[in-house]
Amino acid sequence: MKQTWWKESVVYQVYWRSFYDSDGDGLGDLQGVIEKLDYIKSLGVDVIWLNPCFESPDVDNGYDISDYYSIMESAGTIGIWEKLLEEIHKRGMKLIMDLVVNHTSDQHSWFKESRSSKENPKRDYYIWRSSKDGSPPNNWRSYFTPSAWKYDETTGEYYFHSFAVEQPDLNWENGELREEIYKMMRFWLDKGIDGFRMDAIALLKKQEGFPDSENPDDIRYLTNNPGIHTFLRDLNEKVLKHYDILAVGEVAFVGPEEGLKYVGENRNELHSLFHFEVCDEMPRMDLKKFKAIQKRWYQGLWGRGWNSQFLNNHDHTRQVTRYGNDREFRTQSAQLLATMIHTLPGTPYIYQGEEIGMTGVHYSSIDEYKDIAFHNKVEIEVSKGRNPQEVLEELRPLARDNSRTPMQWDDTKNAGFTKGTPWIRVNPNFKQINVENELRNSDSVLSYYKKLIQLRKENPVLVYGDFHDLSGEDPKIYAYTRCLDSEHWFIIMNHSNENSSYILPKSLSLSGSKLILANYPEIEDGNEISLRPHEVRVFKITQ
Ligand code: GLC
Repeated sequence: MKQTWWKESVVYQVYWRSFYDSDGDGLGDLQGVIEKLDYIKSLGVDVIWLNPCFESPDVDNGYDISDYYSIMESAGTIGIWEKLLEEIHKRGMKLIMDLVVNHTSDQHSWFKESRSSKENPKRDYYIWRSSKDGSPPNNWRSYFTPSAWKYDETTGEYYFHSFAVEQPDLNWENGELREEIYKMMRFWLDKGIDGFRMDAIALLKKQEGFPDSENPDDIRYLTNNPGIHTFLRDLNEKVLKHYDILAVGEVAFVGPEEGLKYVGENRNELHSLFHFEVCDEMPRMDLKKFKAIQKRWYQGLWGRGWNSQFLNNHDHTRQVTRYGNDREFRTQSAQLLATMIHTLPGTPYIYQGEEIGMTGVHYSSIDEYKDIAFHNKVEIEVSKGRNPQEVLEELRPLARDNSRTPMQWDDTKNAGFTKGTPWIRVNPNFKQINVENELRNSDSVLSYYKKLIQLRKENPVLVYGDFHDLSGEDPKIYAYTRCLDSEHWFIIMNHSNENSSYILPKSLSLSGSKLILANYPEIEDGNEISLRPHEVRVFKITQ
């Protein structure tokens, strides 16, 4: 298998608006990230993924870009961004930026021109269609709204949007538009960034002719359409392949067979992907399902393309709340989930705050939620005549704001995140859960993350080793090996709130093995391993 830096790296995602506010306006900023770089470095991570910080009216927290060449005023200036890049590189880390090119903001000058008249040279940069018998051009919905089309009075036509109304989709069929995007990508790459996280990248190609769907609620028609790979190969040929970078794509609704087409080593498209078979399709931990997903992706990709491992990000509720136990076993559970992500095949991603076991949030009023997607969802349900409080209860567990609350640095006001009023309310549990507390305690989630990251760095078996699941259909225990040449590692964990046990297969013996990492004090085991709630152990086996 080809060895590269991005396979060996651990990536730390910085959602800057909630990371650290250096100027007291209540919103995190790039200067704040600079001030906390030593903290990030101390974790041992290699790469920082920065969420979008380009000029934007901020309807979708920066995913609605109005100028690809400047920095959002509330985030900082181009000078501060350059300083950030320099300081990241100075510390031996790399920076990947979010690339949002499926759509722009409706305030982008391209869209303003495009909507101004049918004859405008930029008209074709976006997707315009006339109405069908007085209705929108087809019956599709968008990710965030009941229709994917918005009527625009100026020219009497509809434009297409896969997300919010304020995020019109770009028309990738237009060659001039594609060249504009490539130029912009080179602009940032030439400044020295180390890659892109490619937002909604599988949506670039639209279905030929925009046919009505039989089941408009199943929005798969928005993504992974025939022809997408022609776009990605062109993008690789014209831009990506000329740089030593990581290009990781957000690719929803694909299994390994389709996934491999995006990241196959012989395909010249992307380097790695985030698939969403876990985060989009597994609302709670379902270990049997999770194992099956891992196995399929391993079989589909191993040796041929590279996967990513993650259980949360700025769009998905915090992992210890969603997939673990954020109450009596919070510490152990956060440690277990981390071990799993860092020892399964693929590049591990850490979402800020995960390393201290931050949890989801429970706001009692809809007004405290800030996310446009959440507000739209609530509105759609309430418009059906449902009780707003009941809707809130139902949708709360998966609200994106669960992961967007400010980073909890210490137990002072606003968790040390800002001296002003935070843009979104701090999780009230910051008095207990914060970086300062975690740093004081050698058994903390944070201390454990540092050991884990170090372990992956020092042991290529955790990166390049083959993977074998040894726990079959067990609904609580996950046990597997990673093997590289003569080196064999055995990882076992108990995903439950009770004690559970596991009988070692005959082919495996732990006698003479070394316990490398664990989240409980060591106990002696024979052929049967007893595991306490959310216990995990990592062994190096001597053959
Ligand atoms: C991606 C981003 C999400 C955003 C959407 C539209 O899924 O992760 O935050 O809302 O794309 O850009």
